[in-house]
Amino acid sequence: MHLPDYKEARTRDKRDYKRIEYSENSDVKDKYLGKTFYLKTYGCQMNEHDSENIEALLTFLGFSKVDNYTDADLVLLNTCSIRENAHNKAFGMLGRLKHLKQEKKDLIVGLCGCMAQEASVVDEIMKDYKWVNFVFGTHNMYQLPEIIDKALEENKQQIEVFSREGDLIEGLPVLRVNDYKAYVNIIYGCDKFCTYCIVPYTRGRERSRLKEDVLEEVKALVRDGYKEVTLLGQNVNAYGKDIYDNYTMANLLEDVAKTGIPRIRFTTSHPWDFTDSMIEVIAKYPNIMPSVHLPVQSGSSRVLKLMGRRYTRESYLELFHKIKDTVPNVTISTDIIVGFPGESEEDFKETLSLVEECKYDNAFTFIFSKREGTPACKLADPTPESEKEKRLQRLNEIVNHYFLENNKKLVGSSLEVLVEGISEKKNMYYGYSDTNKLINFSSDKDIKAGDLVKVKITSAKTWSLDGEVVR
Ligand code: SAH
Ligand code: SF4
Ligand code: F3S
Repeated sequence: MHLPDYKEARTRDKRDYKRIEYSENSDVKDKYLGKTFYLKTYGCQMNEHDSENIEALLTFLGFSKVDNYTDADLVLLNTCSIRENAHNKAFGMLGRLKHLKQEKKDLIVGLCGCMAQEASVVDEIMKDYKWVNFVFGTHNMYQLPEIIDKALEENKQQIEVFSREGDLIEGLPVLRVNDYKAYVNIIYGCDKFCTYCIVPYTRGRERSRLKEDVLEEVKALVRDGYKEVTLLGQNVNAYGKDIYDNYTMANLLEDVAKTGIPRIRFTTSHPWDFTDSMIEVIAKYPNIMPSVHLPVQSGSSRVLKLMGRRYTRESYLELFHKIKDTVPNVTISTDIIVGFPGESEEDFKETLSLVEECKYDNAFTFIFSKREGTPACKLADPTPESEKEKRLQRLNEIVNHYFLENNKKLVGSSLEVLVEGISEKKNMYYGYSDTNKLINFSSDKDIKAGDLVKVKITSAKTWSLDGEVVR
C-alpha cells in the first residue's frame, strides 16, 4: 500500500528521473476476457488523454467497453480535483455505485486521477468506502494491470498512490477516441504553484518528454492519416526547460509544424513563459492554428499577485496585443476566476475592464473554489458566496456579448473547418475552424468526418456559427 502525502508532493528538488520504455506484462494479457468496463472521465484534456491510455490497458487485460455503467463488471472513475464541484460529482457517482454494488456483488469499482493524489480523499475511501476495490494515482497509471489483477486475486482494497512523480514512462498503449484528432503530451506536471491551484500537488513537477519521442509520435499520427494534434501540458510553454539548454517550446512547435500535420493546437499556455520566438513561429507556420488559450484569471494586478501568477495586468495586456498584432486573424480565449479571497468590487471591475479591452473569443469563467492544502485556502475571504455568484453573472454577460459580437463579424467570410460529424440538428455537419470556432453547416457535397472543408458563414450565434460548404 502507498498513500499520498501533500508535503512530499510539494517538494521540487531536481532529482533525476529516467525515461523508461513501458513493457507489457504478458502474465495478465487477456486474463479477464469476457468482462466489461465503464470508464468515466472528469476534468481536463490531460485526463481525457490519460483515459485513452487507461482504455488500452484495460483492453490488454481482456476487458471490453460498455456505454452504460449499470452493464459493466468494472467501473473506473478518472477524477479531477480542480474545483469542489468536480470532486462532488465523483463522490456522487460513488454513491450511485454503492447502490449498484448492493445488487451486483461482483461489481469492481476503482478510482484514479487527480483526486487519488489527495490524502483526504484516500482517507475517506479507506474509512467510508471500503467497498471500493482499488485506487491508483496519476504517477503510476502504468501499473493499472497489476493493481487491478491484485485487487481481484486478493479480494482486498488496493491503494497504490505515489506522492512524487516517478520515472517518465514512454510507449504506454493508447486507444484514441478519434481517428483524425489526437492529443500528444509534451510536458507533465506544473511548477507554477498558483496559490489557488491543486494541480502542482496532483500532477507533480514539470517533466518534458524528449523531443524525439514527441516528434516520433506526431510523425506516426501523420502516417495514420491524422489531421490535427493538440500538444498537451498544464503549462506547455515551459517545455524543454528541465532537460535542454537550447531547445524551447518555440523550437518544438517549429519541428512539429515541419512534420506536415495539417493542424497543430497546444494547451495551456501560461502568460509567463510565452516568448516572442513562440509568437513568431505561430505566425510563420500556417499549420499552427491561429488560436491561443491565454488564461488571465484576473484583471487586477493586486489579485494577480495574491494568486502568484507572476505577471501584472499591464504585462498581460502587452503580451495579448503582441500576439494579436503579430498572428493574422488570431483568436484568443481565456480562463477567469471571480471571488478570489479578498477580491474587492474595485478589483472585480478591473477584470471587467480587461475583458472590455481583450474582447475574448471564448472564456471559461469560474467562482474561486477552496482547495485544501493550497495557500489561498488560508486567506481571509469575507465576500459572501451570493455576491460571488452575482459577479460571475455580470462577467458572463460581458464575455458572452463579445463572443457574439466577434462571431457576427465573421458572417460572409469563409473559414476552413475540420469536419467532426453530423450534429443533433438534422442534416447539419459540425466541426471547428482553424480559429477554434464551432461551426454547424450544411453541404451539398459528399463529405465525411476528418475532411478539411471551406465553409461560408451565414449567421452568428453566441457559441457557434452557421454556414454552408463552399462549392
Ligand atoms: N494550467 C492551466 C490551468 C489548468 S486549470 C493554466 O494555468 O492556464 C484550468 C482553470 O481552472 C484555471 O485556468 C483556473 O481558471 C481554474 N481554476 C484552477 N483552480 C481553481 C480554483 N481553486 N477555483 C476556481 N477555479 C480554478
Ligand atoms: Fe494551476 Fe497555475 Fe499550474 Fe495552471 S499554471 S496548473 S493554474 S498552478
Ligand atoms: Fe483536474 Fe487534474 Fe486536470 S485536477 S483539471 S484533471 S490536471
